[in-house]
Amino acid sequence: MRRRFDPSGPLRGSVRAPADKSLSHRTALLAAMTAEPVTVTGYLDAADTNSTLAAVQALGALVERGEDAVRIRGTGLRAAAPVDHPIDVGNAGTLMRLLPGWLAGQPDGRWTLDGDASIRRRPVDRIAEPLRRMGARIEARDGRFAPFTVTGGPLDAIDYELPVASAQIKSCVLFAGLLAAGETTVVEPVASRDHTERLLLRCGVTVTREDRRVCVCPQDELEPWDLQVPGDPSSAAFHVAAALLVPGSRIVVEGMAANWTRVGFLRILERMGAVLVGELEPADAPLSPEEPVTELDVAAGGLTGTVVDPDEVPLAIDELPLVALVACFAEGETVVRGAQELRVKETDRIATVVDGLRGLGARIEATVDGFVVQGTGGLRGGVIHSHGDHRLAMLGAVAGLASRDGVEVEGMEAAGVSYPGFEADLAALQRR
Ligand code: S3P
Repeated sequence: MRRRFDPSGPLRGSVRAPADKSLSHRTALLAAMTAEPVTVTGYLDAADTNSTLAAVQALGALVERGEDAVRIRGTGLRAAAPVDHPIDVGNAGTLMRLLPGWLAGQPDGRWTLDGDASIRRRPVDRIAEPLRRMGARIEARDGRFAPFTVTGGPLDAIDYELPVASAQIKSCVLFAGLLAAGETTVVEPVASRDHTERLLLRCGVTVTREDRRVCVCPQDELEPWDLQVPGDPSSAAFHVAAALLVPGSRIVVEGMAANWTRVGFLRILERMGAVLVGELEPADAPLSPEEPVTELDVAAGGLTGTVVDPDEVPLAIDELPLVALVACFAEGETVVRGAQELRVKETDRIATVVDGLRGLGARIEATVDGFVVQGTGGLRGGVIHSHGDHRLAMLGAVAGLASRDGVEVEGMEAAGVSYPGFEADLAALQRR
């Protein structure tokens, strides 16, 4: 589907961030592991998170979708049902990396996971390796890709140092730790999003964090309190970028998660000179079962280039394509380094962002682990292809609004992976 986004007048008004994708996946999985019924308020209705609901249904959970909430009657922690066909994770890397942690510790059973063409290019050896160390049996195509098979069995706890800062690997090992004999520890090289830790606390699990070490104790059962999904900062980021770049704009984003591990993009923008008003969680907040929520006031303004260092990368990983876009409009050079993980996202996001923005007139170069942008104060426009990557499709739309000539986005339907209402929400901000 090809869509055109013309240069826009000022964006005005308020927009509610759609439900958080990371939290939605996790709430569905944890609810499936629970024997009592669980209500998840504000669950994201998008392709990725619907894949997770379908997966937990296949595994024996009952799922009822209401207007504002999903009610899930899970199987309990050790009773995932056998499935006689491959579980289809669609385009959802988070589902593909988290679910095996639960399945690996089932008393018995064998499950195959598969997905779309993009998912088949994304590595799973990163989760197979720690799970095997815990005693799991995993067989993957070419040793590292979907389709792959997980055979349930007894697990031993491990003390695991993550080779890359990845919340998906961390979460997978923590889920397996719920079923392992002993206390499981994961050590992160630098902090990554901590939703799993918070939700496990919310489910009555003993989880502790000290510096970069997270420990989880095995569990007989989960006992979640009510689960609520706040707005997604990664989806809101597109509106934030649009409001910063389209002259004269002033918008408010409502109901957005303000978890410190998710708002690295906003800290980068502030360093570039953006004026953002909202209450974000401080860096030293103790681990808590809550997800803080904020309202963010954004106004257009001049930006200057910056350097994004490796430590910041996991805290802004999904927003780095937008850092490249806003850098085109800034004064001076912007460098992102230590972001080689971008190469194994829905697309190789170093290649697709650099090629895509170049096609719109940007002065941007790829490096092995990131990119360098020379800001020119604007962007010409042209055609950009999403390559089926939701974040690239939405980046193209924002680029169009702020460009001189407009942008045509080929493959706009990809936005439905995380934000089906994106175009409507963006158009509403243009109408006020
Ligand atoms: C996610 C973690 C990140 C992120 C992805 C969602 C999660 O991936 O890019 O969109 O929900 O845990 P990595 O853990 O591979 O960095």
